[in-house]
Amino acid sequence: MTDSRSPGPVDRFGRRFRNLRVSLTAACNYACTYCVPDGKRLLRADRELDADQMLRAIELLVEGGGIERLRLTGGEPLVTPKFAYLFPRIMSLGLEDVSLTTNGQLLGPKVPLLVSSGLKRINISLDTLNPTAFRKLARGGDLRTVLAAIDRCLEAGLKVKLNMVPVRTGNRDQIVPMLRYAQQRGIELRYIELMRMGHLSHSAAFDRDFLGMEEILELIGDETSFERTDAPFDSTARRFALADGGVFGIIPNESEPFCSACTRLRLSSEGMLYGCLSSSAHQAFRPLLELPKDEALARLPALLEDTLKAKQPVAFTGGAMVMKFIGG
Ligand code: 5AD
Repeated sequence: MTDSRSPGPVDRFGRRFRNLRVSLTAACNYACTYCVPDGKRLLRADRELDADQMLRAIELLVEGGGIERLRLTGGEPLVTPKFAYLFPRIMSLGLEDVSLTTNGQLLGPKVPLLVSSGLKRINISLDTLNPTAFRKLARGGDLRTVLAAIDRCLEAGLKVKLNMVPVRTGNRDQIVPMLRYAQQRGIELRYIELMRMGHLSHSAAFDRDFLGMEEILELIGDETSFERTDAPFDSTARRFALADGGVFGIIPNESEPFCSACTRLRLSSEGMLYGCLSSSAHQAFRPLLELPKDEALARLPALLEDTLKAKQPVAFTGGAMVMKFIGG
C-alpha cells in the first residue's frame, strides 16, 4: 500500500474494511434453489452502476477506504459486458490481491484474458458432480461446461478453489465425491455452510437443508483421515489437511461465526455499500460518484463509518437479502 492511501475507519472491536466484494451485476444464469425462490428466477436489479461508475467507486474505496483485497462476484460476474472492461483496469490498481467468484458457465473462453491480466486464483462454485442433481439445484447451466472450465483454469496455471454449499436434500451424497474430485486435481474444496439469506431467512427449508461442519467432518471422517490446520487471522475458512494429500476448508457461517474478525465491505451492483451480510442497512455510494474526486474522498470516511456500524458483534444472524444481489 502506498502512503497516500488511507487505512479507513476502525470500529470498537478493532475491525476495519480491508476486503471489498463487488457485485458486478445481480443477473445470473443459474437460479440455485437456496438463492432464489421459485417464480423469482428472472428478478433483476434495474438501476445498476455502469462500468465507469463501478471503476470510480472501486478506485475511491482503494484510495480512501483502506481496501487492499478485492473480489469480483455477482450475480454471475461473467454474464455482464462490464466484466471485460473492468477486469484489466482493476488488476492495474496495485491491490494486494484480486480474485473472482464465478459459476464457471462462461468461464472457459475468458481464461486467457484472466491470465494475461494477471489473475492468480479463482473460486468456482460447484455443488455437485451429478448432472441430474446439478439441474435440480442450479436450475440453469450445464455441468460439463463447468468441469471443462475448471480443467482450463488448471491448465493455465490458476490456483482453483471450489465452493460447495452442502444442502441436505440436494447434495449430501456429494460431500465425499466432491472432495475426491478436488483432491485429484490439487484443488482446495470449501464447503460453505448454508446461510439464512433471502427466502431461507424465514423458511422451514433452511432447517431441513442445513448441513453443518460437524456432520460434514463426520461424513469425511468415515472415508479418510484429516487434521485441522492453521488459517490466517481474517480468513473465514477452517482448514483441514487430508492424510492422503491435499487440503479442504469449511466456512462455518452458522457453526463458528467469524464476525469478530470480519474485514469485508460489499458494493452491490446498484451502488450500495453494505457492511454486513446479516444486516440490510446500506449506504448509497452514487452521490459520491457525482462529486469531484477530492470532495468524494473527503466524504468517504463518514460514509464508511456509517457502513461499519452495521457489522454484527459476534454472530451471523442471516437476513432478507438475496445472495444474488449482494454476492455472498
Ligand atoms: N448460503 C451459503 N452460500 C450461498 N451462496 C449463495 N447463497 C448462499 C447461501 N444462502 C454461495 C454460492 C457461491 C457463493 C458466492 O455463495 O453458491 O458459491
